[in-house]
Amino acid sequence: MAGEILIADEVRISFEELRTLRRINVVASGTSRHAGLAGQYMFQQLANLPAEVDYASEFEYRNPQIGRAEITIVITQSGETADTMSAQRMAKQKGSRTIAISNVVGSTIAREADGVLYTHAGPEISIASTKAFTAQIGVLFLLAGYLAQVREEISRDALRGWIKELLALPEKTRTVLKTSDQCRQLADRFRKSEDFLFLGRAIHYPVAMDGALKLKEVSYIHAEGYPAGEAKHGS
Ligand code: F6R
Repeated sequence: MAGEILIADEVRISFEELRTLRRINVVASGTSRHAGLAGQYMFQQLANLPAEVDYASEFEYRNPQIGRAEITIVITQSGETADTMSAQRMAKQKGSRTIAISNVVGSTIAREADGVLYTHAGPEISIASTKAFTAQIGVLFLLAGYLAQVREEISRDALRGWIKELLALPEKTRTVLKTSDQCRQLADRFRKSEDFLFLGRAIHYPVAMDGALKLKEVSYIHAEGYPAGEAKHGS
């Protein structure tokens, strides 16, 4: 494609197929599914493509109406989650092409996908999965921008503007990390609270859901007697 701004050869699906796509399906579990819900907004807003997000564990039980005109995006940090793997196999069986977004190079789900986008977030060592989530959202944003470019749904200037915003993120992240003392004080103040509400609208809604999941995971571990961060992470 001439004059492209984003290049994503790893998608390994032809421009022709991407241009005639009718819908995107996302399958994932836990935190990866929350990233997928944020991706749904991006696909719909940037690439003008309808997107559906499923719990991987439910996908095969609803006889998904998919085929070659849809692609299935399989999001997984580990690339080995059993439910996500069976959803991917079901999508392939139905004729859908699959693109994996995975953190682990050469994982089963990555190997079985038509295209793979790696998050390269480094190994997840302690619960809860946080940097994987951030990296998945970054990759979904790039993929949505790429689809918008291929389908000519976005002007070059608008796409450049979005990429500029993306490149500004590391600096913004550094600013957030400087609030760690303030976070410690807040944690100390609220550590005995028994209920929390996480609120968010639009693309912040899945972020709120993931915040809630993180707090549940960490306080559950703590209740089991392990200091948060020292327990082995399962995925
Ligand atoms: C959350 C967490 C789990 C995983 C889920 C999917 O902090 O670690 O909810 O997100 O088990 O795992 P992957 O992404 O490896 O498929």
